[in-house]
Amino acid sequence: MDIEHLNIVLTALADKGWCVLPDFLAPEAVAGLRAECLERHGAGAFHDAGVGSGQAAVVWEIRGDHILWVEVDDPHPAVQAYIDSTEALRQAVNRDFFLGLHELESHFAVYPPGTYYKKHLDRFRDNDRRTLTTIVYLNEDWTEADGGLLRFWPDPSGTGETIDIVPAGGTLVAFLSELYWHEVLPARRTRLALTGWYKRR
Ligand code: OGA
Ligand code: MN
Repeated sequence: MDIEHLNIVLTALADKGWCVLPDFLAPEAVAGLRAECLERHGAGAFHDAGVGSGQAAVVWEIRGDHILWVEVDDPHPAVQAYIDSTEALRQAVNRDFFLGLHELESHFAVYPPGTYYKKHLDRFRDNDRRTLTTIVYLNEDWTEADGGLLRFWPDPSGTGETIDIVPAGGTLVAFLSELYWHEVLPARRTRLALTGWYKRR
């Protein structure tokens, strides 16, 4: 991650607690991650995001994406470059905000056509370690007509004005996990993202 991008993210987080940064990842990096995401998905490595909660039927109503967790020592070069840049961001955020971010958990997410993720907060009621959410999109030529917009509520009450973010390849969205309500509107094409949460100890 270059220093200019890092500064934009840090300034936005300091000012308002969230940020949207188009072209955060270079097109080649996006292409590498997209190819790897599709390859692993095609190989059957993903699972329904709801599975494992013990409430798969309920969760299907809430979110329809498939996910694959990414290990920090993943050997793929594009994935490793992503891990390295998230580490740079983690250190910078800790230095500037004393958030005590300890580790990142992240997963690829594939939303098949027709799927969505209803309005939610990322911090679980029973676990307050998720502190900062980051999402990087891996889609090629995505337009508003493809659906799958990220609807974001800048007011932590979760009411009022909303912002709709097009999940264009390379765009980064970052926000404090406990504050901001958001929702993925139904996608009309297969929608790819790499989502990460920096956690406190
Ligand atoms: C999530 C999430 C948003 C997106 O995975 O928790 O809200 O735009 N993703 O993919
Ligand atoms: Mn979320």
